[in-house]
Amino acid sequence: MPEAETIWLIGASEGIGAALAREYARRGARLILSARSGQRLDALAESLGPGHHVLPLDVSDRADVEAAAQAIAGRGPVDRVINMAAIYDPGRTIEIDPDTAAKIVDVNLTGSFLVARAAVRVLRDGGQLALCGSVAGYVGLPQGQIYSATKAGVINLAESLRAELAGRADVRLINPGFVATRLTGKNDFEMPALLQPAEAAAKIAEGLDRRGFEIHFPRRLTIGLKLLRALPYWAAFPLTRRLAR
Ligand SMILES: NC(=O)c1ccc[n+]([C@@H]2O[C@H](COP(=O)([O-])OP(=O)(O)OC[C@H]3O[C@@H](n4cnc5c(N)ncnc54)[C@H](OP(=O)(O)O)[C@@H]3O)[C@@H](O)[C@H]2O)c1
Repeated sequence: MPEAETIWLIGASEGIGAALAREYARRGARLILSARSGQRLDALAESLGPGHHVLPLDVSDRADVEAAAQAIAGRGPVDRVINMAAIYDPGRTIEIDPDTAAKIVDVNLTGSFLVARAAVRVLRDGGQLALCGSVAGYVGLPQGQIYSATKAGVINLAESLRAELAGRADVRLINPGFVATRLTGKNDFEMPALLQPAEAAAKIAEGLDRRGFEIHFPRRLTIGLKLLRALPYWAAFPLTRRLAR
């Protein structure tokens, strides 16, 4: 029987990350579950059965992430590191509170960078590092605010890491469309092609087992946005401006 995979899953206490924890536990993986809320992680680990560990941390806190990497490295190499942690605050870009904006950059972008640094320490040779962007990072849309800018940054970061770590780690990028979670619960508009967390988790786990770099879903949403991104600005701006009304 093949040995169980070990996966460090960050942002595991809620939403897509929690659903991904359930998906991987069902597949027989041993999980190290991280997020800020130790209580919710404990409850999740208990519901998953024996063999999983809880390691609370704040991804935007360098000391926290380094301490976690040290603790994990001490137990032996892991097969995958998956970072789903992010925060979101909807609204018009110039109306967002600057302190909130700075926090979103810290968690979403700097956090991804800190996790990538830690991953290099804990992954087995050829192990997988998956960062979570978003279709919101494909193109600057009205009301996209700083969250979308951080997700564009994560996409760029993953692209750089894919090249830099080639041969050493299998770097992947996860770009979901709309998924019904605490995060999107803040949206006051109808979200097209909305998925449930369990559906998103299944697509992510399948995608991470296939070859390739980007996992994006649902295609009925992502393909249109990819085409929009490919347009020259003179053709794209009249379309995106319409969304601002
Ligand atoms: N839902 C969507 O439609 C959608 C679409 C595209 C991309 N995404 C991306 O998918 C990922 C998961 O989103 P979600 O919708 O599942 O959101 P969610 O339900 O709000 O879950 C976010 C997770 O991140 C953790 N987290 C937040 N800040 C953290 C920090 N500073 N340090 C460590 N963990 C932190 C949260 O736990 P604690 O609060 O306990 O820390 C929680 O476990 C995010 O990267 C998001 O940007 C989501």
